Amino acid sequence: MLEMSPEGFSLDGRPLRLLSGALHYFRTLPEQWPHRLRMLRAMGLNTVETYVPWNLHEPRPGAYDFDGIADLDAFLRASAEAGLHAIVRPSPYICAEWENGGLPWWLLADRNLRLRVADPRYLDRVDRWYDRLIPLIAAHQTTRGGNVLMVQIENEYGSFGTDSAYLQHLADGLRSRGIDVPLFTSDGPEDFFLTGGAAPGHLATVNFGSRATEAFGELRRFRPQDPAMCMEFWNGWFDHWGEKHTVRSPEDAAGALREILENDASVNLYMAHGGTNFGTWAGANTADPRTGEGYQPTITSYDYDAPIDERGAPTPKFWAFREVLAAYAEQPAPDPEPMPPLLAPARIELTESVPLFDVIGRLSTGTVHSPTPPSFEELGLAHGLVLYRTSIPGPRKAYPLTLEGLADRAHVFVDGVPAAVLERDSDERPEIAVDGPAARLELLVESMGRVNYGAAIGDRKGLSGVLHTQQYLHGWTAEPVPLGDGTPDGLPWGAAAASSGPAPAGADGVDGTSAPAAFHRGFLDVDEPADGYLALPGWTKGYVWVNGFCLGRYWDRGPQRTLYVPWPLLRPGRNEIAVLELDGHAGPFVEIRTEPDLG
Ligand code: GLA
Repeated sequence: MLEMSPEGFSLDGRPLRLLSGALHYFRTLPEQWPHRLRMLRAMGLNTVETYVPWNLHEPRPGAYDFDGIADLDAFLRASAEAGLHAIVRPSPYICAEWENGGLPWWLLADRNLRLRVADPRYLDRVDRWYDRLIPLIAAHQTTRGGNVLMVQIENEYGSFGTDSAYLQHLADGLRSRGIDVPLFTSDGPEDFFLTGGAAPGHLATVNFGSRATEAFGELRRFRPQDPAMCMEFWNGWFDHWGEKHTVRSPEDAAGALREILENDASVNLYMAHGGTNFGTWAGANTADPRTGEGYQPTITSYDYDAPIDERGAPTPKFWAFREVLAAYAEQPAPDPEPMPPLLAPARIELTESVPLFDVIGRLSTGTVHSPTPPSFEELGLAHGLVLYRTSIPGPRKAYPLTLEGLADRAHVFVDGVPAAVLERDSDERPEIAVDGPAARLELLVESMGRVNYGAAIGDRKGLSGVLHTQQYLHGWTAEPVPLGDGTPDGLPWGAAAASSGPAPAGADGVDGTSAPAAFHRGFLDVDEPADGYLALPGWTKGYVWVNGFCLGRYWDRGPQRTLYVPWPLLRPGRNEIAVLELDGHAGPFVEIRTEPDLG
């Protein structure tokens, strides 16, 4: 059992300095967990820390998933086998640049439900989830012969609120479901964060990237009886689409790590190994976390400029940290293992294609009719595309079209002709005139990640209303198209046509709309599975699948230019690469490269 005193931690009576590193099982394929965990040991760490994203495990209310990349039990076993202790931060909210901060999208279907407070509607869902999750974690505690040392109550709650009854409910819920190791909170090292986020009677820890002495001074003033621990030492950082790639030098980060350890503190590196936001799991921030303005979607890579890179390889930061950690480790760290092979550079022609609007009927989960445009949540759609259609009565002269509550990007078509591409936060209002008795208006709306931090959490997707001048347009149909899981089944692949000509009117398609969006595919032949980086030169925006597994989003806005292809996705022989290009600028080829390009 982990014990605590102002001097530090001890386990079964022996002093233990926690040298921990964050590694999220949900951002690395299960075949790669053992290697990544041994890399933590090789850096000189003795503990792994992971969040648990509720939304990965409960994709629909009451439908639980603990298989494959969601096999938390197997991950905890693998971490024990690698010789690591474990710290678990089990939701309900995790932030983590993860879709909706880990909160399931379907919570947002109830407009009265309040997130992250003691609202009975919310707590009821949390409690049911915890009935499933917490016993699984409890079985891995040190008190039952496992490796789980401690469990977090909520994540940086002081950055959000002051509802101590909510924190108490969560702490009680962990205890009543069998957690008997120490509970803790983690917050920024400032008075308001700590006084709002800490839970009486439970360990308080702090998160920061530098100035450890100051941060621990603040923590010690607030909690003189607690051991000092930095629960998130931000040694790197993440990126948003359209912004500059963030890096932090190994020397600077190693110096900050040394300062933490010289303070006799324990540490958790955030991240030790970042991994990838596969599928549609990347979250988003807002430039102003107080107002929720300035939407900033997070990129697919979660490399994080961490010491162990997205592919699991040691970086110069790894070696710098290993040297610092060596002075504090009980025994010398093992050497890192050789890395798996890399694919040879290749060019893959995507010779087959299917216009999206030809197959929208077959991809749709079902046409919904509604006077106003329903949100993704009302349509039961986690992520993907919705084609909204209505007509504008005419004749009328040109008036501006306003998309209220657009989240997050819309291709606008008038009578089948592309009229504009609009984005959340943009003030652009296309002028649309109607010459005849009516014009057909189609909006293809794509969702990006739901905001995971600040006042804007609970980010609904789609549209809340569409105005032509001051008049709401009514009488909508919506076709929801899920994206993020497998490649859509049974697409009628044909020889690639010109990428932007008018789409032929298919039986289940949209007649006569020249939407540029299309699926494209080609094949990669390999002798043996190996890691690679996929580049999409000349493509604009969309999604990529490898053998039916969604790697995530790409966007020529950068900074990320290549997507990591983990070796377990490939098999000897022929491998399918499928791309959904939304803006219509199709390559016509993609490339396998041996180096990442994160900008
Ligand atoms: C906070 C959160 C983490 C993560 C980091 C930034 O500290 O607790 O989940 O979002 O910021 O990477």
